[in-house]
Amino acid sequence: MEKRKVILDCDPGHDDAIAIMLAAKSPLLDLLGVTVVAGNQTLDKTVMNALNVCQHLNLDVPVYRGCGQPMIRDKQVVAPNIHGESGLDGPVFAPLTRQAEPQHAVLYLVETLLQSDGDITVVTTGPMTNLAMAIRLNPDILPKIKEIVLMGGTYQLGNVTPAAEFNVFADADAAHVVFTSGRKITMVGLDVSRKALCLPSVMARMGQIQTPAGKLFVEIMTYFNQTQKQVFGWDGAPLHDPITIAFLIDPTVLTTKAMFTQIDIRSDQSYGRTNCDFFQKSGQQPNSFVAVDIDVAKFWDIIEAGLRAYDE
Ligand code: RIB
Ligand code: CA
Repeated sequence: MEKRKVILDCDPGHDDAIAIMLAAKSPLLDLLGVTVVAGNQTLDKTVMNALNVCQHLNLDVPVYRGCGQPMIRDKQVVAPNIHGESGLDGPVFAPLTRQAEPQHAVLYLVETLLQSDGDITVVTTGPMTNLAMAIRLNPDILPKIKEIVLMGGTYQLGNVTPAAEFNVFADADAAHVVFTSGRKITMVGLDVSRKALCLPSVMARMGQIQTPAGKLFVEIMTYFNQTQKQVFGWDGAPLHDPITIAFLIDPTVLTTKAMFTQIDIRSDQSYGRTNCDFFQKSGQQPNSFVAVDIDVAKFWDIIEAGLRAYDE
C-alpha cells in the first residue's frame, strides 16, 4: 500500500514533538519534511526543538525554518507557561549538530506542492502562518494540496481566551486564509483533544516502552503534564497535536461533522474564535470537517504502536 505523503508544519512544543515522532516512523506515512513556525515559543526555539527531536531519534527528515511573526498582527504570543522558556522544557538533548535546510519553509511548501502530483497532505499543529503565506504567495498550490488536517480551534471553550484556541489566536488571519482556501480541511480542536488526557495510567503504559521514543515520550510528557495541571487543572495533559497524525494513520479514531467554520478576525473580545456552525444556522456551505469525538482507547493504541516502531 502506497504511503501517504505528509508535510508537518509545527511549533514544537511538547505535543508537536510527539506528532513528529508518530509521523516519522509510521509505516503508513511518508513524512517529506517538517516546517517550523513561531508559536509555543519564538522561531529560533521552535526550530531548535524540532532539530533536537529529529537528531535525538536519528530521523532522516529535513527541517525548514518558517515564519517568526504572524501575518498581520504586531503582537506575538508564546506559551512559556505551558512549554517553558525553551519551548520544550524537560528533556535534555545532546549538543545540537543537525541544521535546518537553507530554503525558507514557505518557499519549500510552494515548490514541493507545485512539483507534486497533488498527493501531499499538509498537517499543521501550530499557528498557520507558513501555510497561509504559501497560499498567498502562490495560489497555484491550492489544487496541489490533497487535504489539510489541522490542530486548532474549538466550538466550545478556548484555552488562550474564553473564545479562542492558541494556534488560531496566535495568527487568526492565517487561519482565515486556510479556512477560506476551499481545500478539504479536518479541524482537530480542543473539543476532542481535551478527551485525550495523558493520565498516570497512560504514563505507566508508555513508560514500559524501552525504545528511544518511549523514553523521550515520558520525559516530554512528565513536564507537559505538570504545566497543564498547574494552568488548567488537568490530571493529564491533552495530547493535542498527535491526534492529527493518528487520524491519518486510522481515520476511524475521530468522528467528524461537516460544518461552516468562520474565523473571528475583527472583534477584540472574541478575536481568534473558530465560529463553527454546528447547527447549520448560517446558511453557508460547510468548509470543514470538525472533530466532535475521539476513540480514546484507539488513540492510545496508535501512540503505543508509534513509540514501539523505534528500534530499542
Ligand atoms: O492549543 C493547543 C495548541 O497550541 C497545540 O498545538 C500546542 O502545541 C500549541 O501549539
Ligand atoms: Ca503545536
